[in-house]
Amino acid sequence: MKPCTIIIFGSTGDLSKKKLLPALYHLDVENRLTADTKIICMGRGEQDQDDWKSLVEGYVSAKARAGASENALADFLDKISYFKNDINDAASYQDLKTLLDDPANGFSDNIVFYLSISPSLFGVVGDNLAAVGLNKEDKGWRNLVVEKPFGYDQKSAAALESVLRKNFTEEQTYRIDHYLGKGTVQNIFVFRFANLLLEPLWNRNYIDHVQITHAEQQGVGGRAGYYDGSGAMRDMIQSHLLQVMTLIAMEPPADLNDESLRDEKVKVLKSIRPITEDMVDSHAFRGQYAAGTVDGQEQKGYLEEDDAPENSVTETYAAMKVYIDNWRWRDVPFYLRTGKCMPESKAMIAIRFKKPPQELFKGTDIGNSHANWITMGLQPDNTLRIELQAKEPGLEIKAHKVGLETNEDEDPAHKLDAYEAMILNAILGDRSLFLRSDEVDLAWKAVDPIIEKWSKEQDFVHKYEAGTWGPEEVSTIFDDECHQWRNEV
Ligand code: BG6
Repeated sequence: MKPCTIIIFGSTGDLSKKKLLPALYHLDVENRLTADTKIICMGRGEQDQDDWKSLVEGYVSAKARAGASENALADFLDKISYFKNDINDAASYQDLKTLLDDPANGFSDNIVFYLSISPSLFGVVGDNLAAVGLNKEDKGWRNLVVEKPFGYDQKSAAALESVLRKNFTEEQTYRIDHYLGKGTVQNIFVFRFANLLLEPLWNRNYIDHVQITHAEQQGVGGRAGYYDGSGAMRDMIQSHLLQVMTLIAMEPPADLNDESLRDEKVKVLKSIRPITEDMVDSHAFRGQYAAGTVDGQEQKGYLEEDDAPENSVTETYAAMKVYIDNWRWRDVPFYLRTGKCMPESKAMIAIRFKKPPQELFKGTDIGNSHANWITMGLQPDNTLRIELQAKEPGLEIKAHKVGLETNEDEDPAHKLDAYEAMILNAILGDRSLFLRSDEVDLAWKAVDPIIEKWSKEQDFVHKYEAGTWGPEEVSTIFDDECHQWRNEV
């Protein structure tokens, strides 16, 4: 554990109330924050310190896993203070520096700056922090955590990158993808590299295709204003799903060092076969939810959501076929899909193996060969299932499918939220759960041609009824007629 000062820009925003402050509370309960760690919550408005603490108490209590204990809350609130900061006002940063530098206040020189603000403000915050020397690491370390979205295409991400680079080095920059903080996503890594059994099969010789699915029951709710400028391809596939794909596809890293891990992920992203404009329709698909029923509740269509622009063709469902042109994966399709207003909220990976090379049992009671599957549930449950064919008990020789299954139950009181892992790693200086700039760049490069073509084609988007698994026409991206989405783990 390292003592540090955590400074949250945008602490009065939704992410801070729902995720960051509760995550910090849980880290404190688990004794992952040192006693002298302090948290400065920055906000534009005037705020009395005690009033702010009671607000924080409310945010944290609403999310406390095992119920908030009075002692733990008191300890946590002792670490919290509010600081009125006008992001554009240089004098405000001078005041911050004066506050931090006064030894009587007991702030550690190791600082995590958490930017939970619009990326358009990253530049001004960086410049103002640098103007008072708060980016310099002469006394302690300075880690800068930035939230997504990191750009809206390759070019804007590069521009954002150069804004950050003016004042902070790559080593100081922690780009969040909260999927990497999920224990279940980290389990992909353990499953692959702690089991020798899988390695000989984990390649183009045995795997027919891979599916990565993220489905959620919610619609865009009150976020249509923001979401309309993004859409599912940017919001989920460019970031979270391509990251999950790299973990499935990567080579074993040389060691567990954060850079070794990121090097391997980058190699996968570099090997993605480029999708040119004429390939977009056979490699990507978009849909938008119309009114329907999700889990027994009526759901209005995307275009009826507050703030959704009239006639918008922004996709709330997107699917993409990716080829990774390297020795291990050449010609194996990776199908990625995500959708809002789906029948279930779940994220899963389904890996289909090839059929045996010879139909030995054709014409017998055992019947045609079936392909094996490995499925991994990422949420809501952490499951792993390997499907095999086995002989049914009895005198006759008949086959049936058996599943070898694990279901890891986590003690709910200690179930780690992704943000806890992320913040802890930002404090510990471990960048393995964060995106390096080349990863972000290559992920945009992979989806940019799709986004660009879709932005030009503004007259039509396939509709799907809310509460269904999306438009059937998505099958146009499948390579083989036996390819179909698998919805069950
Ligand atoms: C966010 C997206 O990054 O991830 C949201 O902006 C999406 O639109 C969310 O709902 C999904 O995350 P999770 O952890 O709920 O699967």
